[in-house]
Formats: sequence, structure tokens, C-alpha cells
Amino acid sequence: MSSLDVPREQWATRAGFILAAVGSAVGLGNIWRFPFLTAESGGAVFVLVYLLLVALIGLPVMLVEFVIGRRSERNPIGAFRRLGHPSWKFAGVIGALAGFIILSYYSVVGGWVLQYIVASFSGGYGGDPETFFVETASGTDAIVSHAVFMGLVAGIVALGVRNGLERAAKVMVPSVIVLLVALAGYGATLPNANEGYQFYLNPDVSTFASDAVSILPAAAGQAFFTLSLGMGVMITYSSYLGEDRNLLNDSLIIVAIDTFIALLAGLVAFPFLASQGVDLETGGGGAGAVFISLATAFESMPAGHLVGGVFFIMLAIAALSSAFSILEVVVSFVIDTFDVGRVPATVGITAVIFVVGIPTAIDLNYLDAYDLFANNILLIVGGLVLSIFIGWIYAPNALEELGQGRTGDGAFDAYWINVVRFVVPIVLLYTVYLAVVEYVEFIQGTFL
Ligand code: TRP
Repeated sequence: MSSLDVPREQWATRAGFILAAVGSAVGLGNIWRFPFLTAESGGAVFVLVYLLLVALIGLPVMLVEFVIGRRSERNPIGAFRRLGHPSWKFAGVIGALAGFIILSYYSVVGGWVLQYIVASFSGGYGGDPETFFVETASGTDAIVSHAVFMGLVAGIVALGVRNGLERAAKVMVPSVIVLLVALAGYGATLPNANEGYQFYLNPDVSTFASDAVSILPAAAGQAFFTLSLGMGVMITYSSYLGEDRNLLNDSLIIVAIDTFIALLAGLVAFPFLASQGVDLETGGGGAGAVFISLATAFESMPAGHLVGGVFFIMLAIAALSSAFSILEVVVSFVIDTFDVGRVPATVGITAVIFVVGIPTAIDLNYLDAYDLFANNILLIVGGLVLSIFIGWIYAPNALEELGQGRTGDGAFDAYWINVVRFVVPIVLLYTVYLAVVEYVEFIQGTFL
């Protein structure tokens, strides 16, 4: 029996759905990837383009996924069959592939977090946070902690203990916000904080137009990654939603929380990076930026190792609930496609994802290569295909679905469908083109 035949449960409460979606969205993407990408991509201009893309593309695409999920009551693979357009299920295949690649290195970074937890409670980050990061990020320790992280995610998926995760998210989100606010407050007192804020928040409008084009793939990739879009996570989660829920409201809440946490993480990272003498104008530290600067901060502050330990535990919970959502989609894909049981599917996929991730735990260039390909290309293509489907094939039904659980707001619906039809495909097509060109250059420059 495929999982499609199982009667659909629904989220017990509205909070359950929001918590799960926020649990998926808030993760390493907000706290690790957003600040380091911003540092690498020129600072405030990147932030501006990212925010524009979240509002103009991310929110509508999230609603696209919600509409597909709630209408079909299926995961991405079953969804298109149920909606009467089975040939579109290749969108689900792209999504599963994206999730597969993303999780393989996401788990490596999750493993770093686990190592930082251990270090926080066992005497700190070796006196030199930079060396500590290098030793953490690649090599045997990285591979072992990657295995541990994957094991944790697989355990959660195989046991189906989603409830525990929702409860964890309930604690995690407010705790992360409180910790980040406190750290941002501490950062504001640092000597060079202002330099950091300038870089992060004060865009150079004179070069905006040309900069915006060159950072479009990175900003779009980040918008999709941080909101968990383009691979069907939000389709899956909304497939358990009742018709009485207001999709627009829910998407606004999820996007707002996720964006708020990312912006806060930047307010922490940039004063610390500037005060630690990182040269922001030339790219600012790479994938280790946030880990190094936070560890340095924890070394110097009162009770810093305790604060650091709590912070990294919360980050691990955030990362686990995000990783869970990815594995869940990939496992459902395999269960539905090959008709295998949940536990063997989870074990098998986990093992393969672990192996595929190993190169990224040995050489950070592989991490970049995986990350760029999956986010800037696959997720964007996924979002493009889903939006074309809704905008051009399924629009009347989609509008009806969007309107369920809501009164009024026909103006928004008209805006939405036009954005989904025209703006999203044009912007994303152009983005994919730029991303592919950039990717080829990256591969040639790094590996060939
Ligand atoms: N959004 C998560 C983060 O920011 C990562 C994530 C979870 C994700 N599910 C996803 C990214 C699906 C892309 C697609 O950490």
C-alpha cells in the first residue's frame, strides 16, 4: 500500500501548522547562511535585493505551494496526479533531487553545530576560534558529526515523532529570538560596531542597478532556501491543512518570522565581524564567518561558554527541524515511487545522503559546489515549474483554493495570480540563466 491511500490527518491546531512550517523555514539558512552570504555578496545591497525577492517572489511562491498542497492533500509526487496533471510530477522529482543534495551538506553544517555544543560545555573553542573552525569544519570530526546529525534526523523521520519536534520548535523560536536580541545588544557596544552596521544596512544606491543583477542568483537562492521553497516542503505541510485556514495570513506569519530572524542574525554577525577586524569589503570570512565570530564573542563575554552552549543547542534544534522537513519529502518521494516501507526507505536514503555529503565534510569547495547547484539552480527551477503550473494550467482552481478560509481580498488574489503568471517566471528564468553561467564559472575556477 502506498502512503497515498492512508486517510489524511489534519493539523490539530492552527499553531501546529505554523510551528512546523516555521520549524522548517528557520534554520541554518537564517543564522549561518544569510550572514555569510551577505558578507560575501557586498552587504546592504544584497540584503535589499533579498528582501525584495522575499516579498515579490518568495511570498507568492509559498502560496503556490500551499494551494497545491491543500488542494491535492498529497505530497509533491502524488499532488499532480490528484490534480489531474500527472505529467507535472517531474516538479516533484526536481524537488526530491534538490532536497537530497541540500540535506547532504546541511547535515555537515549541522554536525559543526553539534561540535560547537560539545566545545561550549567542555572548555571552549580552543583559545583560537579560527583554528577551531578549520578543525571543526573538515576532516574526521566533521564526518563523524555529520553521521551523528544524519542519524538524529533519520531517527525523527523513521519514528514519526513530529509532535516532539513541534514542541521543540515552540521553545526554539522564541529562545533563538531572545538570544539573538541579547547578542545584538552586546554587539552594539563593541568598538567597531558602526562599521558593521554600515556595511550591512547602508546600501550604495549609485551602483544598485548593476550590483542587483550580479547578486540576483545568490539572493534568489537564499530567498528560496530560507523559506524552504522550491522542493515541496510547503506542499507537504499544507496538504494537512483544513479548508478553513487562511493561507495568506499563514504565509505572512511564516515569512515575517523567518525574515525577522535572518535580519536579527545579521545584526549580531556584522558588529562582531567588524570588531574582530574581518575585512568585510573583500568578502568577510566565508562559510566560517558566523561560527568564528560568535565563538570569539563567547570566549570574551561573561558566562560566554554557557551562553554559547545554549545558543548552539537552539541552533541545533532549528537545524534538526529544518533537516527533518527535507528528509521527510525525500523519504515520501521514495516510498511513493518505489513502494517501500517507511523505515527501510529512511535508513537507505539516510545512508546514501551521508555518503554523498562526505566530500563536503572534507573540502569546503565541495560544500559551495553542492550549495550553489541545489539552491541557485534546482530550487529556482522547482519554483519556476510550480508557478508556471499554477499560473498557466491551474489558475481558476488555484484562485478558488486561495479564497477558501478567507473573506474578501479579491484584489490580492488578482495581484497574486498575475505575479505568479508573469513576474515570477520572468524573474526566475533570468535568475536561472545567470545562475547557470555563474555556476559553470565557479566549477571551472575551483576544480578545473
Ligand atoms: N529553510 C531551512 C533553513 O533556512 C532549510 C530548509 C528546510 C530548506 N527545508 C528546505 C531549504 C527545503 C530548501 C528547501 O535552514
